[in-house]
Amino acid sequence: MALIKKFRIKSYKFEEVIVDLKNISVFFNKRQILNNLNLKINKQEILGMLGPNGVGKSTIFNLITGLKNPNHGSIIIDGIDCTDLPINERFTKFKLGLVPQYGGLIHDLTLLENLKLVAEIHIKEKDLRNQKINKLITQFEFEALLKIKAKHLSGGQKKKLVIAMALVNDPKILLLDEPFAALDILTIKMLQEIILNLQSTEEISVVICDHQARDLLSCVDRAIILSSGKIIASGSPNEVITDKAAKTQYFGDEFNIN
Ligand SMILES: Nc1ncnc2c1ncn2[C@@H]1O[C@H](COP(=O)(O)OP(=O)(O)O)[C@@H](O)[C@H]1O
Ligand SMILES: [Mg+2]
Repeated sequence: MALIKKFRIKSYKFEEVIVDLKNISVFFNKRQILNNLNLKINKQEILGMLGPNGVGKSTIFNLITGLKNPNHGSIIIDGIDCTDLPINERFTKFKLGLVPQYGGLIHDLTLLENLKLVAEIHIKEKDLRNQKINKLITQFEFEALLKIKAKHLSGGQKKKLVIAMALVNDPKILLLDEPFAALDILTIKMLQEIILNLQSTEEISVVICDHQARDLLSCVDRAIILSSGKIIASGSPNEVITDKAAKTQYFGDEFNIN
């Protein structure tokens, strides 16, 4: 698959940091998962995090949202140390959006009811709320699906719905946990286009983690490769796939993206 990003003009111009994870170590019981990790996420970039299952990708999302506290280190968002700030305050203060790997919607509600539910939490004024819902319905082409219960939507439709729900709040930082897992090729392409469009139309930083290297590298500006608690490579998609350590510890010799 050709790199989608190869043909796009990099739309973020300043390497201004929005999330700064400093000297982060995380243990579960006595097992060390992250080892003195340092990671900066820039404003308006699409950053990809790659690494084998269990390496700590979701844990990094949990650290950013506040679902998990680090054993060492600090989490700076938009210049503010929020290591000890509770989840709800982080979500509202820094406008975070999270698309979890599983779930994220209410199965017995229709697509429209799911959207309305989230909108009622975030947008108090009725007209603004309806405007936002209508915008998302058009953007995601949900018109024919509004009355279908979430449990009857296809995998790709569910994923689109959860992404739309995460966008109700106009997030500044959108975290997507394995959005391409178990989806067909066309649905993956559609999601990649939605993500790229978001970057060009909204001021948003997007972090995507996945272990499907090819799909992820097709739509990011920059990628990091995680292995054994550390970042072993960082750079453009072409830079990371040719990186020696990343080849040895993650991609293997045969991997290419063209
Ligand atoms: N609540 C928990 N208790 C114990 N171990 C955990 C917990 N959450 C995650 N882990 C462990 O931490 C490691 C990283 O998990 P995770 O961040 O979910 O990995 P990834 O998202 O990269 O697959 C895994 O080995 C996992 O078993
Ligand atoms: Mg995970």
